[in-house]
Amino acid sequence: MEAYQNFDPSLEQALRTVREASHQRGETNWTRYGDCVDRYDAYFSPILHGKSIVDMLSEKEAPVVLDLMAPSETIVDLFSRLPQLQKLGIALSYEDLRSGDQKERDRKLHIQQLQGDITEVTTWETLEKSLKGKKADLIMERAMGGISCLPVHKSFYVYAVAKMWDMLSPEEGTLLVQTPTIEKLESVDVFVPKWVEDLKSNGIEAESYSLASLLSGDVLDKLPLLKDLPSCNALKLIKRSDSPVTLPIPHLEQHKAVFENHHQ
Ligand SMILES: C[S@@+](CC[C@H](N)C(=O)[O-])C[C@H]1O[C@@H](n2cnc3c(N)ncnc32)[C@H](O)[C@@H]1O
Repeated sequence: MEAYQNFDPSLEQALRTVREASHQRGETNWTRYGDCVDRYDAYFSPILHGKSIVDMLSEKEAPVVLDLMAPSETIVDLFSRLPQLQKLGIALSYEDLRSGDQKERDRKLHIQQLQGDITEVTTWETLEKSLKGKKADLIMERAMGGISCLPVHKSFYVYAVAKMWDMLSPEEGTLLVQTPTIEKLESVDVFVPKWVEDLKSNGIEAESYSLASLLSGDVLDKLPLLKDLPSCNALKLIKRSDSPVTLPIPHLEQHKAVFENHHQ
């Protein structure tokens, strides 16, 4: 009975829409898949301010890295550039297309590739368990075309960002994620620039960027399709020892309940 109390038909609809689209698309049809970490640097460059992902991790004692909506390849490339012997990497992808040799390579490098659907609560539980009590120094997600597989629903976004925050290390753990377009987010009352300002006033280092916000209103009026480019929106959060343990988002508990209690 409890599971139905927060039933939200719009979440069910949003989930059904993306799941149908994923099935039609098939599992392997990605333009970008397993890119090298330089490409992630390039994608996030407007909010990295000249620092690379390798720079970000090179001082950590035993880096722990999550790459969501990605096969293990990017973490393999990243780890080959880090000097530390002890590292842990976890990639989460909808499919696992690795060869036997790649699986063996990953095992030796302490990199796991979890197969799961990020729109399922159980996948987030599996992710947390895979950390075995550790916290992540870096959580990245650059889903590119995969962004269209995410449900356009505020409760999902709030749930996902809060979960990632929970999994971050308070010793300067960094979240670096591609987000859906401003248009999509605003259509479900998610106003990232305003939210970033609120987080800053709570003492959290937060930054977002979108191609749309870099362009003037005039250009967007003339070329409205630019607003819908999938690959030009990103968010960075940094968690420190004095940061709030729980991410301060209005109505967090309600959104979590909606997402956790949706029909399976
Ligand atoms: C375009 S690839 C991007 C891969 C990688 N991040 C990169 O930039 O090279 C999209 C990825 O999103 C993953 N993906 C799509 N829908 C997903 C879902 N519902 N749950 C988990 N992963 C998903 C796919 O499995 C695929 O690994």
